[in-house]
Amino acid sequence: MQIIDGKAAAALLRAEVAAAVAARVAGGRRAPALAVVLVGDDPASGVYVRNKVKACAETGIRSIEHRLGAGVAEAELLALVEALNADADVDGILVQLPLPPQCDATRVIEAIDPAKDVDGFHPVNAGRLALGLPGFVPCTPAGCLRLLKGVHADLAGAEALVIGRSTIVGRPMAALLVGESATVTIAHSRSRDLPALVGRADIVVAAVGRPELVRGSWLKPGATVIDVGINRVTGPDGSARLVGDVAFVEAVEVAGAVTPVPGGVGPMTIACLMENTLRAAG
Ligand code: GUN
Repeated sequence: MQIIDGKAAAALLRAEVAAAVAARVAGGRRAPALAVVLVGDDPASGVYVRNKVKACAETGIRSIEHRLGAGVAEAELLALVEALNADADVDGILVQLPLPPQCDATRVIEAIDPAKDVDGFHPVNAGRLALGLPGFVPCTPAGCLRLLKGVHADLAGAEALVIGRSTIVGRPMAALLVGESATVTIAHSRSRDLPALVGRADIVVAAVGRPELVRGSWLKPGATVIDVGINRVTGPDGSARLVGDVAFVEAVEVAGAVTPVPGGVGPMTIACLMENTLRAAG
């Protein structure tokens, strides 16, 4: 049984990016630059943005933070995105989600220049991924695929189950696995008999946001489990802890390899954002 060390894998990828950034700068080019836009004061978003800015510093990427109030008009946010699109000193643009209700996330994402869309959320990049063409791939599924490839050199023919059909994780994850020639099933809240679907999967990627939904007893022995869930739960003694979408303690008894929460997918997501930003710089 292998506990997949996402922290170590992420540190390795960040070091690779840092070396490439340093080589660029030594060659007389400016450092890649990522604009990070945070709207409002959602505490989780604040933590994510802080971690992204920190990863930029560690890899030598310049980060430019833009903080807007929770009451900002959508037009003002769109004007900022347009200004960042036009700024030749900005390579990547990331608008942290969720946005307050008066700002339509779809409209804001569609305003980002696809060539600067390091989140891979723009329909052009989502479409390119669906078509199997190169483009920006969303960071969480890109990180999951990297972790999977660390366990399985070849995913061709593997039975892969993606639980969750979100545009940020589930759908792009399925497209990436199809690109690796896996046999892919997408399960979601309306799927019948989830335990049976899990039971025949060599690879399970769980991304539904339901604490410990997937039980160890459901897993095929030796399966590889990637847990994207980050759920805050309160124990009987009132203490808070983070758990994934998979019952980790049960899963380690059955799985061949499993990611922990925290310390699995999370750090890889941010490392992949650094990689996308380096690529956006050209
Ligand atoms: N909110 C939750 N995950 C993400 C992400 O990967 N990117 C952005 N921009 N917002 C998010």
